[in-house]
Amino acid sequence: MDQLEKVIIRMSNVSKRYGKMDALSGLTLDVHENEFVFVTGPSGAGKSTMIKLLYLGETATEGEILVDGINLARITRRQIPQLRRKIGVIFQDFKLIPTRTVYQNVALVLEAAGLRPKEMHPLVMSALEWVGIGDRVDEFPPVLSGGEKQRVAVARAMVGNPKIVLADEPTGSLDPDSAARIFMLLQIAHRAGATVVIATHDQQMISSHGGRVVRLEKGCMTPQNQGGRPSC
Ligand SMILES: Nc1ncnc2c1ncn2[C@@H]1O[C@H](COP(=O)(O)OP(=O)(O)OP(=O)(O)O)[C@@H](O)[C@H]1O
Ligand SMILES: [Mg+2]
Repeated sequence: MDQLEKVIIRMSNVSKRYGKMDALSGLTLDVHENEFVFVTGPSGAGKSTMIKLLYLGETATEGEILVDGINLARITRRQIPQLRRKIGVIFQDFKLIPTRTVYQNVALVLEAAGLRPKEMHPLVMSALEWVGIGDRVDEFPPVLSGGEKQRVAVARAMVGNPKIVLADEPTGSLDPDSAARIFMLLQIAHRAGATVVIATHDQQMISSHGGRVVRLEKGCMTPQNQGGRPSC
């Protein structure tokens, strides 16, 4: 790794406790700009917790997290939308709004960023065309297949051209063809410059890519990590 490359995510001695349960313990990890990182490990290892901490879905109990220079423990109200614009998130269960059309689901991100409908239109359409779903814009999520829903979710994550894409088991509930397609879209986003962090159980996806692997077990980084040190 080139020492000059910018660290875009820095986790320093990060722990997350739920009651007496340590979901994460002492995680220390740097992710460089435009890296492709898999976070893997058994169920309950803390993968989703780690992803949540990065997009402020949860806050750390201890330690420091910097995302593109923003210290998440000291983030101001004004910086929260700035952070959200830097990050696109994809979930296993898609998290689309069932009562909004495909188009509206994607447009919401840009609306929140303050764009006008006229400005949004070409961006939303090109994101939906990019994922191959430009002909379904007026439909509602419940009529789409799982793979199609996830493509909408990828379009929503990518429409604001985020620096960082976080994906929590993005292919976990998809058939192999749909999963391969989603994975391909993430790889294209990476080639276009995004930093990609994927939490996954899918060993085939990991070995087919050869990217960096962060392994968690019971909230700890294990000794087999690439570029991190064991945390427990
Ligand atoms: N909101 C919560 N309240 C209490 N405990 C929680 C909460 N969220 C997660 N945990 C606990 O933290 C631990 C890590 O959970 P997490 O969801 O991060 O695991 P995971 O590695 O994503 O697992 P999976 O592969 O099943 O998705 C688990 O023991 C879980 O029960
Ligand atoms: Mg999980």
